[in-house]
Amino acid sequence: MTRITSLLMAIAAAALYGSGSAHPVARANVEHAHPNCLASTIMGRDELLRVRKRAVDWGYEGAKGPFYWSTINPNYTSCSTGRFQSPVDIDSTIPATYDTPVEFYYPDNFTNVQVENLGFTVELFAPAKTAYIVRDGVKYYLANFHFHAPAEHHVEGKAHPAELHMVHRSDNGSITVLALYVENYNYEPQYWLDLFLKHVPRNETAPALTVPVYPIETLVGYFKNSELYWYYDGSLTAPPCTEGVHWIIASRPIPATKKELEWLGFLMDFNARPSQKNDNVPSSLH
Ligand SMILES: *[C@@H]1O[C@H](CO)[C@@H](O)[C@H](O)[C@H]1NC(C)=O
Ligand SMILES: *[C@@H]1O[C@H](CO)[C@@H](O)[C@H](O)[C@H]1NC(C)=O
Ligand SMILES: *[C@@H]1O[C@H](CO)[C@@H](O)[C@H](O)[C@H]1NC(C)=O
Ligand SMILES: *[C@@H]1O[C@H](CO)[C@@H](O)[C@H](O)[C@H]1NC(C)=O
Ligand SMILES: [Zn+2]
Repeated sequence: MTRITSLLMAIAAAALYGSGSAHPVARANVEHAHPNCLASTIMGRDELLRVRKRAVDWGYEGAKGPFYWSTINPNYTSCSTGRFQSPVDIDSTIPATYDTPVEFYYPDNFTNVQVENLGFTVELFAPAKTAYIVRDGVKYYLANFHFHAPAEHHVEGKAHPAELHMVHRSDNGSITVLALYVENYNYEPQYWLDLFLKHVPRNETAPALTVPVYPIETLVGYFKNSELYWYYDGSLTAPPCTEGVHWIIASRPIPATKKELEWLGFLMDFNARPSQKNDNVPSSLH
């Protein structure tokens, strides 16, 4: 990173995080498209690029924010009428397992993989059918991983600084998301994260960039090393809030430095949906 870039990022990070507010302020000068957080799973790349250039009707703040999603578009009624919505607040009522709940069939590295800034998130597009998990005898192929900051799934009412979603889709279209928390432990900079951040375009108008060799096995290692996993059935966390999404959340956060988290906050706007009601999660039923 050049010194000027570092300086710009430090200023941007200070603007985002320096106010003491729990919710970083949105960058005011950028008009964002906000397609579905899992849009790239469902749509082809070209479609996604088209959607991204169109003004979409929902967002994370004000009159387009999460409380109004269902009133914005009839296609989004699940966002308020759905009984199995995500994210939720994780407490003792959420089922947990100490066994690694899926088998991984991932390569060590992805080669020539694309990284993109969608405005509403930053994302790595997995090469088609290159990495998959097996859950209950069914293959789910990795479609992308992307970030939310702060985390969407709270733990006992608290949010980690960021949450990583590894979105997997089976041949019949059902979705399993593996979620990993990212926490500021101020260890050494993390190569998998630095390499990703270094390649993410500065904003959503810039084209995707290619990473020649990406060590995807690092994330698999982190996921396998979590001692406890929480799971439940919920939904997409963005319109149209489609249900039938299986969530598996690793309880042990993965380390990042303060600088890496600030960088992430600089690259995308606040993008966490608040906790939702979910009939599978007794504690969320009030
Ligand atoms: C609702 O979704 C359908 C199917 O994707 C689409 O054709 C239609 O235009 C959407 N309606 C609105 C109001 O966006
Ligand atoms: C993955 O990439 C790393 C770093 O470039 C390299 O050391 C390693 O040999 C690669 N692994 C495989 C299986 O190609
Ligand atoms: C897809 O497959 C899964 C796993 O076999 C099954 O639970 C689900 O009902 C199927 N979904 C559809 C839409 O067929
Ligand atoms: C977006 O990034 C591109 C490429 O870095 C830059 O040329 C452009 O000015 C940026 N646009 C905004 C709105 O910041
Ligand atoms: Zn997500």
